[in-house]
Amino acid sequence: MSSEIATRPPTVCVTNAKGGTGKTTIAINVAGALNERGHDVLFVDVDPQGNATEGLGLLSAYDAEPPTLFDVLTDRAVRANVGELIVEHEEMDVLPSSIDLLQAEHELTIADLLAWAKTDDSVAVDPDALADLAINVTPETVTGDHALDSLALALAELDHEYDFVVIDSPPFYGKLTDTAIYAAGNVLVPALTEATSERAIELLIDQVAALEGQVDITVDTMGVVANRVEQTNEDATMLAWLEEVFADYPVWEVRKRVALQRAFSAGKSIFAYEQRVDMEDVFLSIAERFETHFETTTPEVTA
Ligand SMILES: Nc1ncnc2c1ncn2[C@@H]1O[C@H](COP(=O)(O)OP(=O)(O)O)[C@@H](O)[C@H]1O
Ligand SMILES: [Mg+2]
Repeated sequence: MSSEIATRPPTVCVTNAKGGTGKTTIAINVAGALNERGHDVLFVDVDPQGNATEGLGLLSAYDAEPPTLFDVLTDRAVRANVGELIVEHEEMDVLPSSIDLLQAEHELTIADLLAWAKTDDSVAVDPDALADLAINVTPETVTGDHALDSLALALAELDHEYDFVVIDSPPFYGKLTDTAIYAAGNVLVPALTEATSERAIELLIDQVAALEGQVDITVDTMGVVANRVEQTNEDATMLAWLEEVFADYPVWEVRKRVALQRAFSAGKSIFAYEQRVDMEDVFLSIAERFETHFETTTPEVTA
């Protein structure tokens, strides 16, 4: 890993391959909480569905003409221009998703295969033939023994020094999510307190282990956010299960609250939403954990 990447701001990827677990909701509100505590936050939306981008009121960025985040991740010539894609939101800067990010999974898979074919002589694949299947990726631009560093390298190009970077990830496992986890090196895991979450958590643990094996990094778990918690037996059973599996990590509880949906529909976190929501303390506690974990000092918050 280059020193340039190593000196990037603390970055956390909110991830769980199961859709609807609250990745986007948690990511936006953790970013909002960090901003509330006086930090300068960059929010990165690598979900091709762009829920966060749209939710933050940036639909025109999602529909923007190329170059977009897709090009930043797949075209080396565009990478350094990543800063031009950043849009301002009242609480955070946003590197938006775009509709063409749907192609990124395919493109990054080819890039990763190219890297493999170029570094492993036993792989009998013609790089040019592989590259013919790609839009932006070419054998010349793929260097190294994997191609999962494109977001990390792009973020390293930013001039602005953010205190924290929060990445929202796709609801499936593949190269795009790998790229997001690789760039962050830290994951925050939202999980619903229902039985189906067990499989999703097991998949996540397998995915992270496979990624660590492939690219020689260590991924830190920041903790688990049990989300949409209600007071049923199933919730209690799943909370106990999560606390057992993640015994060494904090397990936060976010209750089911319509206000979280309302704030999202209003294009902001609950901290910028007019109505007070009783889950603010949970998100502030996650933000404080980030501060202590990464040992950042809290700037003076001016009202
Ligand atoms: N704690 C919560 N209380 C009520 N609704 C929630 C809560 N967390 C998420 N939601 C709602 O559940 C749906 C899925 O959440 P979302 O954050 O989009 O999940 P993901 O990004 O994992 O697909 C959204 O409609 C969201 O508003
Ligand atoms: Mg989402």
